[in-house]
Amino acid sequence: MTFEFIRTEVRGRVGWITLHRPEALNALNAAMVAEIAGALAVFGADPDIGCVVLTGADRAFAAGADIKEAAERTYPETFLEDFLASWDVIARMRKPVVAAVAGYALGGGCEVVLMCDVVIAADTARFGLPEVKIGVMPGAGGTQRLARAIGKAKAMDLCLTGRMMDAAEAERSGLVSRVVPASDLLAEAQAVAEAISAKSRINTMVIKEAVNRAFETSLSEGLLFERRTFQALFATLDQKEGMAAFVEKRQPEFRGR
Ligand code: CAA
Repeated sequence: MTFEFIRTEVRGRVGWITLHRPEALNALNAAMVAEIAGALAVFGADPDIGCVVLTGADRAFAAGADIKEAAERTYPETFLEDFLASWDVIARMRKPVVAAVAGYALGGGCEVVLMCDVVIAADTARFGLPEVKIGVMPGAGGTQRLARAIGKAKAMDLCLTGRMMDAAEAERSGLVSRVVPASDLLAEAQAVAEAISAKSRINTMVIKEAVNRAFETSLSEGLLFERRTFQALFATLDQKEGMAAFVEKRQPEFRGR
């Protein structure tokens, strides 16, 4: 895969997407989002890939949507093109996605992080939704996903003031899964992604769906979805293998089906 604004790589069973637009702190323009969508489609369809890592650079994961590209847009254009709707493709990725975040994750960059499943932050990471400072508001899910991730009071604080959270506050708030020294970020992300990839692929995909249901539905509907999908896993070879391996005191060899 050859792209202009991202780099891709396969490490074992993990597909890596590295945002690469250093001159603009990885600001997400339309072309970059389309490239991310293309890479996710390839990794999503590859049976040898169990998990994707999405990362940026030391200074910035991504400093938001490209303000220069957006500055002259009119309302009719944004409406007719359904500006930012295409970003949903990241949230719709069915395989787990680990975000490895160093430096700024602001605006659309933070919203992309909120679309990922596990978030590993370097101690240098800074998160925020500063759109209010430039006359707009979060438009790629920030008001909804941040409120669900860290609660109303913190989400209001960030969205209304535009201030940034450091990695420690983001971890305390529940936005981040783990914080590690910046020098360990990529190794930690690979280790987490490998741990996920080593599991049954069908299993991790179903678990991702079930956890995401918690944000989409009532508790009773979510619990029913969980129980039915749990029961459905008994139709998989990997359930037989996983439980047999436990009983036989050996490591399971999952086949992803
Ligand atoms: N869009 C376009 N270019 C950007 C950018 C963005 N979001 N963020 C940074 N850049 C560019 C800068 O314009 C600058 O380019 P030039 O050298 O050509 O001038 C380059 O990246 C380096 O940036 P700075 O010189 O500003 O670096 P800094 O270290 O002084 O500041 C920063 C870093 C605090 C992140 C600052 O760049 C900043 O505030 N960026 C904008 C953050 C922001 O408002 N993000 C939200 C965007 S809107 C959005 O995302 C909507 C949505 O909901 C999807």
